[in-house]
Amino acid sequence: MKTTNNTMLITGGTSGLGLGLAQRFHALGNTVIIAGRRADLLDETVAAHRGMESVVLDVSDPESIASAYKSVTAAHPELNVLINMAGIMLPENLLDGSALPVAEDTITTNLLGPIRMLNAFVPFLVGRDDAVVMNVSSGLAFVPLPSHPRTTRRRQPSTRTRRACACSWPTPGSRCSSWSRRRSRRHC
Ligand SMILES: NC(=O)c1ccc[n+]([C@@H]2O[C@H](COP(=O)([O-])OP(=O)(O)OC[C@H]3O[C@@H](n4cnc5c(N)ncnc54)[C@H](OP(=O)(O)O)[C@@H]3O)[C@@H](O)[C@H]2O)c1
Repeated sequence: MKTTNNTMLITGGTSGLGLGLAQRFHALGNTVIIAGRRADLLDETVAAHRGMESVVLDVSDPESIASAYKSVTAAHPELNVLINMAGIMLPENLLDGSALPVAEDTITTNLLGPIRMLNAFVPFLVGRDDAVVMNVSSGLAFVPLPSHPRTTRRRQPSTRTRRACACSWPTPGSRCSSWSRRRSRRHC
């Protein structure tokens, strides 16, 4: 993907990898819109980076996704990049019966979240030049971790979703993450 002159929405932009990517892309002169649930952190980050913007978004809530889609695409019709970085990684204890709520939250946020984001944004992005969708997966898709079984299992369908997305993307020069598109050519 090109690294300048993009307008990018980065979920999970309030901390960790998403915040790091947002800062790097902002420093390169891209228009960066960070998204997350914690409005105080969004405000703090935007205040520290002139020109950066934010939107409150809960990827586990379809209404929140619809609202963010409406406001971001109205303010930025030139939007061409979506980075699905938001995710949770909570330990599950399968031995004491307490794992179910954690498992359900993990599936809702880490699997349904990116799927719903793709459903909302891909029809908008698909006709744009240099459109990119980047879905962040994890090495746990390939190396199981017993304390995080849902993180491990959810990453496998997430990885397949990226491949399906890459296979169906029609616009030359656009991609659904460079890694998956490259790999996907073998599957399409
Ligand atoms: N760190 C690693 O070594 C590593 C390795 C491989 C893959 N990953 C993956 O990379 C992603 C980011 O990891 P990280 O270590 O940077 O995590 P992190 O520091 O915990 O950040 C997670 C981000 O996701 C957001 N988020 C969580 N739930 C959300 C929701 N329901 N709606 C919207 N935003 C939500 C959080 O924002 P709010 O709390 O403000 O909503 C936060 O910005 C995760 O998907 C993780 O699985 C991480």
